[in-house]
Amino acid sequence: MILSADQAISKLEDLIDLLIDAVDGGASVGFLAPLSREEAGAYWRSVIESIRVGNRILIAIEHGGRVIGSVQIARETRANGRHRGEALKLFVHSSMRRGGLARRLMAEMEEAARAAGITLLLMDTRKDSQGERLCESLGYTRWGEVPDYARDPDGTLRATSFYYRRFNA
Ligand SMILES: CC(C)(COP(=O)(O)OP(=O)(O)OC[C@H]1O[C@@H](n2cnc3c(N)ncnc32)[C@H](O)[C@@H]1OP(=O)(O)O)[C@@H](O)C(=O)NCCC(=O)NCCS
Repeated sequence: MILSADQAISKLEDLIDLLIDAVDGGASVGFLAPLSREEAGAYWRSVIESIRVGNRILIAIEHGGRVIGSVQIARETRANGRHRGEALKLFVHSSMRRGGLARRLMAEMEEAARAAGITLLLMDTRKDSQGERLCESLGYTRWGEVPDYARDPDGTLRATSFYYRRFNA
């Protein structure tokens, strides 16, 4: 489901748990470990502000009333790129993996992208990661990789792989 800004606020603690779970598990999603609840909360509040102004779409999956997976679309706001979006911060809680939830999130994310008039989606992920295997298995087009692009939560520099998917306009 797509979460509105108010729905995301009501799920803030779950979203914080999800982000900390991913970083604790070594995922390269923008943060170094250890990630405090304050820093994770500040991140989600900035996402919620972007949802409010229409620049971000947040898709979440719940289980037993708790958010256990999410992904976002960052919409390009410059006039010549409004057909473009970046899929980012795909997480499934570590206790719920390999059950197809990321596939479901990606399908919902693509549906939301199309509905928003997005015809080009970009996505990047750590090289040799579960995220990379997912992009490959979903048939995203790999257009390159950059060495030493981002640090793992433990500080190690790693390469990032870059993908895109086009939809018919
Ligand atoms: C990547 C991630 C979202 C996958 O979530 P998931 O719910 O376990 O994924 P799914 O069960 O939907 O798997 C979809 C496909 O991805 C690939 N995949 C996912 N995890 C994998 C793993 N551990 N090993 C090999 N392939 C994997 C497979 O192709 C899988 O299809 P299959 O089960 O038919 O073989 C999850 O591992 C995660 O949250 N990781 C931490 C955060 C992260 O790295 N996010 C990616 C940043 S873009």
